[in-house]
Amino acid sequence: MKIGITGSQGILGEALLQEFEDMELIPWTRQTLDITNPEQVNNALSQQLDVIIHCAALTNVNFCQENPEEAHKVNVVGTQHLIEGLTEKKKPLFVYISSTGNYGAWKTDPYTEEDHLVAPTVYHDSKLTGEKLVADQLENHLILRTGWLYGGRIEQKKNFVYQRYLDAKDKDEIYGDASQIGNPTFVGNVAKQLRVLLEKKIRGTINCVDTGRATRLEYVQEIIRQFDLNCQVIEAPEGHFARPAPVSPNESAINQKLNELGLNKMRNWKEALQDYILTVK
Ligand SMILES: NC(=O)c1ccc[n+]([C@@H]2O[C@H](COP(=O)([O-])OP(=O)(O)OC[C@H]3O[C@@H](n4cnc5c(N)ncnc54)[C@H](OP(=O)(O)O)[C@@H]3O)[C@@H](O)[C@H]2O)c1
Repeated sequence: MKIGITGSQGILGEALLQEFEDMELIPWTRQTLDITNPEQVNNALSQQLDVIIHCAALTNVNFCQENPEEAHKVNVVGTQHLIEGLTEKKKPLFVYISSTGNYGAWKTDPYTEEDHLVAPTVYHDSKLTGEKLVADQLENHLILRTGWLYGGRIEQKKNFVYQRYLDAKDKDEIYGDASQIGNPTFVGNVAKQLRVLLEKKIRGTINCVDTGRATRLEYVQEIIRQFDLNCQVIEAPEGHFARPAPVSPNESAINQKLNELGLNKMRNWKEALQDYILTVK
């Protein structure tokens, strides 16, 4: 199988490169394929591929909130360029990586794929618009809505887990945010789950998160506990984490479709976190 991966230097992109190393891979980076440049996109897509996994995006929620035009340009227009680049060809499967944050903030239980979507931030609005473009124009598509992704190398600034270790290692106390609930999800598990979905030729829109949910506070407490640090993670006072993008109190989901298909390979979030931390400790 020949697989093109956009955003292959991101934390999920690198996990996909590892998972699919037995395939023929075209690992595009922002330098080799800037999705905002339609000519580059057309050149890149002039070869025949079996699958495109579209990971490239502006993923900083607060940056997107303050720069909505940039968010639109990359996450919406960039996605449309890829779709248009495919129009004349035997269409490969297009895998779009999306977010459970797109469901919004209207429910206290975890969201399922049957719930409606009300994007709460500029970032989520751009990801949701991208999803719709894919679903409307490409029959051969798979949309994965995933959760709070972590993983990657310790040098990567987006490595949430290692950043919390660095925050806490010389402190007695740090804050965690109790106002937000989600699914901490290891990038390697998403990659493994995607392999299963490709093997079974599954199409459509599917939640793909590690199982169980946590507040950010509980998540950070678990990170610090598993690093064996002597640092208390305490609930932040209201307003401490005030940021440009509104915080959605609940962006957690369950893998209802994966369960129905009997294909849910996602792991318990605490067990997966423990295994990941052992690799970076
Ligand atoms: N992280 C999460 O918690 C999360 C949750 C749900 C869904 N997702 C989705 O999962 C996907 C992968 O996210 P991730 O966590 O791996 O994010 P990431 O580490 O930020 O990776 C995104 C990649 O996209 C690249 N990129 C940015 N602008 C680009 C452009 N114009 N053209 C080509 N590439 C560009 C970035 O390159 P540079 O670094 O060089 O800018 C980066 O390598 C994204 O679609 C994201 O929306 C992420």
